[in-house]
Amino acid sequence: MQISNIRMKDNPIDFKLECSTVWSFPKRGNWVTHSSSFRGNWAPQMPRNIILRYSKESDTVLDQMVGSGTTAIECKLLKRNFIGIDINPKMIGLTKKAVDFKSQHDIKTILNVGDAKNLNSIKDESVDLIATHPPYADIIKYSNGKIEGDLSNIHDIDEFCNEMEKVAKECFRVVKPKKYCAILIGDTRRKKYYVSLAYRVMQEFLNVGFKLREDIIKHQWNCKTTPFWAKKSQEYNFLLIMHEHLFVFEK
Ligand SMILES: C[S@@+](CC[C@H](N)C(=O)[O-])C[C@H]1O[C@@H](n2cnc3c(N)ncnc32)[C@H](O)[C@@H]1O
Repeated sequence: MQISNIRMKDNPIDFKLECSTVWSFPKRGNWVTHSSSFRGNWAPQMPRNIILRYSKESDTVLDQMVGSGTTAIECKLLKRNFIGIDINPKMIGLTKKAVDFKSQHDIKTILNVGDAKNLNSIKDESVDLIATHPPYADIIKYSNGKIEGDLSNIHDIDEFCNEMEKVAKECFRVVKPKKYCAILIGDTRRKKYYVSLAYRVMQEFLNVGFKLREDIIKHQWNCKTTPFWAKKSQEYNFLLIMHEHLFVFEK
């Protein structure tokens, strides 16, 4: 972990490396180009903790569901080479803008449209760390049904998990032996019943050969729709899901 080498003018002053299995960031980071305006992005503190703990400078980090580019920004700040992929060309456009800031580090950022279920542009065992954040089935639809292969268009949980098995296989193929793959995923409800989507997806990663190093509970903070759902939770007697799981797998 090379925290002492970080130049403070590029980086958060109050950042602290997490050391337990519960992570909570009431104030999401807003340094450099990070922004909360993209619905469904992860707080910068998430990839920053993952990158610092599970990779070193000049390593190659992959986020194959890159969204608005949070992981890409952190890799640029922390001197990691980065490969960013997303099935939605709009996301690749957003990520290009997000990493458009000056850096003196001599590292590469490669961004391409592609499918996390088939990473054919990436060689076997060539990636040091995967840090990624898939859709939680169709809780947020990123392309409103318009892009074939977008995992956020899948409502059926069994179908979603079958597709995530393909993602897991590709993760296992591209990551180097003894290196890491971290994914953040949350649960959902169908009618009044709780669906442990995160554990179902975790099982897919174990089935393809990964070993589980950590199961971190990430506290979710209020979002715009929380007051609406808080009222419903009393009316229909259910609890709001306010946590996600960050699984860290080792090959
Ligand atoms: C939860 S968002 C990622 C947000 C990202 N962590 C950020 O901070 O902006 C999930 C992303 O997965 C992408 N996605 C969905 N299906 C995909 C697939 N089959 N291959 C690659 N990307 C996919 C969506 O377009 C969306 O950008």
